Amino acid sequence: MLSYVGEDVIGVALQALKDAWQGKAVSSWKDGSDQCGGDWVGIICTNSRVTSIVLSSMELTGGLPGDIGQFTELVYLDLSYNQDLGGPLHYTIGNLLKLTTLNLVKCGFSGSIPSSIGNLGRLKLLSLNANGFTGPIPASFGKLKNLYWLDLSDNQLNGSLPVSDGINPGLDMLTQTKHFHFGDNHLSGNIPPTLFKSSMSLYHLYVFIYWNNSFTGSIPSTLGLVQSLETVRLDRNSLSGNVPSNINNLTNVSELYMSNNRLTGPVPDLTGLNELNYVDLSNNNFDESNIPSWFSTLQSLTTLNMKSTNLGGELPAELFSIPQLQNVDLRDNRINGTLNISSNPSPQLERVDLQNNLVSDFVQRRQYTFDLILVDNMICRESGATDKFCYLPTNVSTLHPIQLNNCTLTPCGPDLVMSPNCQCAYPFIGLFIFKAPSFSSLTNQTYDSLRELLMSYFHNATLPVDSMSLLEASRNLEDYLLFKLELFPSGEPVFNRTGISSIAFAFSNQSFPSNDDFNTYTFIPENYNFFPDSGTRGNNKASNTKLIIGSVVGGSVLVVLLVLVGMYVLRLKGRPEKFVPDSQPFALWDPTSESGGIPQLKGARSFTFEELRKCTDNFSATSQIGAGGYGNVYKGILPDGELIAIKRARKGSTQGGLEFKTELELLSRVHHKNVVGLVGFCFDQGEQMLVYEFIVNGTLKDSLSGRSGIRLDWMRRLKITLGAARGLQYLHDLADPPIIHRDIKTNNILLDQRLVAKVADFGLSKPLSGTNRTHVTTQVKGTMGYMDPEYYMTQQLTEKSDVYSFGVVMLELITARSPIEKGRYIVRQVKEVMDKNKELYNLYEVLDPIIGLNNQLKGLEMFVDLSLRCVEEMGNQRPTMREIVKEIENIMTFVGLNPDIEPSTSASHGGTSKDYSHPYSNDSLFAYSGGILPPKLIPK
Ligand SMILES: *[C@@H]1O[C@H](CO)[C@@H](O)[C@H](O)[C@H]1NC(C)=O
Ligand SMILES: *[C@@H]1O[C@H](CO)[C@@H](O)[C@H](O)[C@H]1NC(C)=O
Ligand SMILES: *[C@@H]1O[C@H](CO)[C@@H](O)[C@H](O)[C@H]1NC(C)=O
Repeated sequence: MLSYVGEDVIGVALQALKDAWQGKAVSSWKDGSDQCGGDWVGIICTNSRVTSIVLSSMELTGGLPGDIGQFTELVYLDLSYNQDLGGPLHYTIGNLLKLTTLNLVKCGFSGSIPSSIGNLGRLKLLSLNANGFTGPIPASFGKLKNLYWLDLSDNQLNGSLPVSDGINPGLDMLTQTKHFHFGDNHLSGNIPPTLFKSSMSLYHLYVFIYWNNSFTGSIPSTLGLVQSLETVRLDRNSLSGNVPSNINNLTNVSELYMSNNRLTGPVPDLTGLNELNYVDLSNNNFDESNIPSWFSTLQSLTTLNMKSTNLGGELPAELFSIPQLQNVDLRDNRINGTLNISSNPSPQLERVDLQNNLVSDFVQRRQYTFDLILVDNMICRESGATDKFCYLPTNVSTLHPIQLNNCTLTPCGPDLVMSPNCQCAYPFIGLFIFKAPSFSSLTNQTYDSLRELLMSYFHNATLPVDSMSLLEASRNLEDYLLFKLELFPSGEPVFNRTGISSIAFAFSNQSFPSNDDFNTYTFIPENYNFFPDSGTRGNNKASNTKLIIGSVVGGSVLVVLLVLVGMYVLRLKGRPEKFVPDSQPFALWDPTSESGGIPQLKGARSFTFEELRKCTDNFSATSQIGAGGYGNVYKGILPDGELIAIKRARKGSTQGGLEFKTELELLSRVHHKNVVGLVGFCFDQGEQMLVYEFIVNGTLKDSLSGRSGIRLDWMRRLKITLGAARGLQYLHDLADPPIIHRDIKTNNILLDQRLVAKVADFGLSKPLSGTNRTHVTTQVKGTMGYMDPEYYMTQQLTEKSDVYSFGVVMLELITARSPIEKGRYIVRQVKEVMDKNKELYNLYEVLDPIIGLNNQLKGLEMFVDLSLRCVEEMGNQRPTMREIVKEIENIMTFVGLNPDIEPSTSASHGGTSKDYSHPYSNDSLFAYSGGILPPKLIPK
């Protein structure tokens, strides 16, 4: 059959594809079976010629051979979401003259984009986003006169935007194109004035997304000609000069982002842009000006971000009555006078942030439900100011509505998830990303309208989707709105290949009807491992590229760590006496502030700003060892040689003195060998810093991932587990008041020079107060993967939530896998491969290979039993920390270790980390995110 005659050419070309791709879908392509008759998944023929290759999300690997050029009748080519499919894109792709859809979203293609794509004159959709393409945008794209959608974002393209010059084509010729997505590349140069033409306005709906490149020069005034524009994102470039005054011709624009450039001149006049929902002009160098009049006239605004734009004068009261207003960020301006908020502000208002302005008075007409922040204004500088608005809110408001179903809480079994219709099924999961949403808060209405939009599409297109859940809404640094989307199959509890591929195609092909809120999205699915025919359900292979990157990073981090350890050893030699606590620790407590009196601290030392400045080399970049939402973390060396870690609150994120004091009092009461304690603090010159002992061996995660170069064998892991459990038990049972940690994870367990585990980072901790000693109801916080599902559902935080997280840590300790890796959840994974009738419960596949030889893993089964009890669905079925400590002590005795003897030697380093195969290592060296740090045991 492999002859080069007639239609068999197709046979040969398909065979070439089959040989090039090793994915599971392709393995169902059987030699000798009917290629066009439906036997080859993803191939559709018309008159015995292949017209469609759609293999979206099919885990293809390998490259795309030049043979692809043989399929000259091809109309659809969609290989999106095959992350291990890559290499260069061949010039022969330009032979597919009938192609209307070329979709390679989120694959691994690299090299330059072949200019032959410009030959594909019928192309309507061209999506090459989220690959590794380099080089320039081919000018030949200008010949794609039927193109509707052009997405090149999230690559490494460089050079400038090609425009036509009478000889060469250019992007300005794409008058039919309604979506230009060029963001997240390395593009540079000016935005050419000839790029924009009024003829573009003939068509409704334009989206220009150019953010996060390096464009320079000014915004051309021709932009004002494209009156059909609806979304403009020019933010995060290096644009300068004035914003063209004809910008207010763009009467259909609803999202306007120009933030983070170097724009100058007058603040743009947006009068008349009555469709505007989302305005972000923050961080530019506009001329000083008074509040523009459009602040009170744009009736569709949901979001106004003009942080740091040189605005002065009083805010008009009308601003707050705009009916859908959700978020106002006017930090770092010169707004003065009286803040006047009407008694009927927008019901959707969530936050008004006026930090660092000159507001001197506030007329409060009633209790408002939104967060008003006036920190660093005149009104809050007066001594004795205790109003709520003079403190930063402790809970950053989030996008809250999450879908809760009314199903009874019965576990569904490994990898199965409860659908909103109470069916257990294997969902198709992915990240749903909106690149320019029109709102900043997620209301029930927006949520419902999105669900309706998607479900009615699935229904009309007869896609096998029964229901969906939208979870974990968040915003990232680029102001994208992200959701986790779970789609549940209809009929069977599992999707088949055709189902997954057609759903993925619908997303990648931008098939959903847009509405005003959701006009530009990307969907990035996780691999779907549950096909009925694959027989490898749950098989999770580690990617080779990740491993290589991991060991390179690991190697360089090891060097840093060795230097740190060296410094530590040096200082041990000449170590003088222990420090003497300052006899007047509160002399520097700032009495003028709203701190509510001198704090009651046990043994914590007060540092001056000057002392800490000196010992961190003026908080230099080289002494910085971490960063979090709270601020940066620095390493310092005190004059006596003692190493310390300093958590310095970012200016502007410093909390009120009262809260700082409360936190300090809580921390200073915590003293336990397995808990990181406090050395001291600094509350001087407007700074808020917490000082901890520097813990030399970093986080447990560093060691499990191979980054620290410390080899953890089974015995060491047992001792670490016991130490961490004892620390946590102390917080639960012996601390006064008892403390729920709320963020137990391997990043928050530190190892000292003898590998003694120390629980760190109380950034999210909750003390249990006298009236309520069993649980507190609180906004759900923590880290995905470690979070107790019961807490997530009920928002009731109990000690058993920490127990759940601890169970996940135990599983991580034996597998060295992140709790959620490539969308796979460690708890389910362990349960899935576990077979209690076999030796070591049949866990070989998931065990960390460097934990030791199989015959050295005595007690492992007991350990696994215990960890699975910790991650029981219902809190009341989980053991207490006290019981866990007992049980680990039993295991250690069983193994022949004495639980009460400390490791005697210093940690030995296991050589270079490339000896190990570690599946993850993307995090920073010191992931002390947002919380506190290492300890100092206070001399008794
Ligand atoms: C602006 O939007 C309206 C309504 O969607 C549409 O009818 C009109 O054509 C658009 N204006 C331009 C100039 O495209
Ligand atoms: C507020 O600032 C403006 C200039 O930005 C000034 O003209 C005005 O007098 C100030 N008002 C008050 C009450 O200080
Ligand atoms: C949004 O929906 C949730 C769940 O249905 C409900 O509890 C909540 O009160 C609703 N919020 C608003 C503002 O209507």
